[in-house]
Amino acid sequence: MGILTETYTLNTGATIPKIAFGTWQIPDGDVAYDAVTFALKSGYTHIDTARVYGNEASVGKAIRDSEIDRAALFVTTKLPAEIKTYDEALASFEVSIEILGLEYVDLYLIHAPWPWSDPGSDHTQGNIDAWKALESIYKSGRAKAIGISNFNVSDTQAILDNSEVRPAVNQIRYFIGHTQQDVMDFCQTNGILIEAYSPLATGKILENKAVIAIAQKYDVTVAQICIRYTLQKGTLPLPKSTHEEYIVQNAAVDFVISEQDMQHLDSLEDIAA
Ligand code: A2P
Repeated sequence: MGILTETYTLNTGATIPKIAFGTWQIPDGDVAYDAVTFALKSGYTHIDTARVYGNEASVGKAIRDSEIDRAALFVTTKLPAEIKTYDEALASFEVSIEILGLEYVDLYLIHAPWPWSDPGSDHTQGNIDAWKALESIYKSGRAKAIGISNFNVSDTQAILDNSEVRPAVNQIRYFIGHTQQDVMDFCQTNGILIEAYSPLATGKILENKAVIAIAQKYDVTVAQICIRYTLQKGTLPLPKSTHEEYIVQNAAVDFVISEQDMQHLDSLEDIAA
């Protein structure tokens, strides 16, 4: 199964499967249930959801119904970006756990440093307060690791300056041409694993001629080049699809992009800019 059985090690010492099945934009109900069920049958052991996706119920049910040993799975969910107080963060975690129908999650993230309605706004104190709630959940053992998402360097620095437990991951938008190098460098220096969401630029990259040419050279799909690229950069990709063919294809990335081709991909412009 190749990449599906490989892991990174978090700064907690726990291992995390190198590729995750992402569920953003997958509607609750049969679509999410069937996609997660198929991903688990295909060998994915790492499932990523969030309160705001609205699909924790179906994701949790698919996980429970799979009857796979819970310890063999890695489940992530996220605190809504609007919640910036200690008490509300604790309460929201309880809601997620209840909806998921699980006793614990492997990773719990602050979904963004600012509310979705006001991207880029400053919520430094709110993030510190929410982080203290995540630390308390971590210490209770109900989240085996805690982290952040969409945090830039200064947002992350504020957490590091005011925390007992450092974030294990920062989940960011990351794809060929959009690598947020400053965040990547800062997180790597501080032992924070980068998780790459939207590794296909939510599908926008699939028509990119330069990437198509590289895919043809390796006799793989554009999606596979994109996912392999993120892995070779040391990040953890979260590809998502509702199609069985794609779910299997996105984990079939046991080939190596040459150093020269990686440099070429590095030089491409941000297609989603
Ligand atoms: P679908 O869900 O209809 O299968 P990203 O992970 O960057 O957010 O991209 C997700 C988008 O890319 C979804 O629209 C998904 O479509 C599509 N997608 C996922 N995997 C593949 C693939 N292997 N080939 C083509 N499109 C894909």
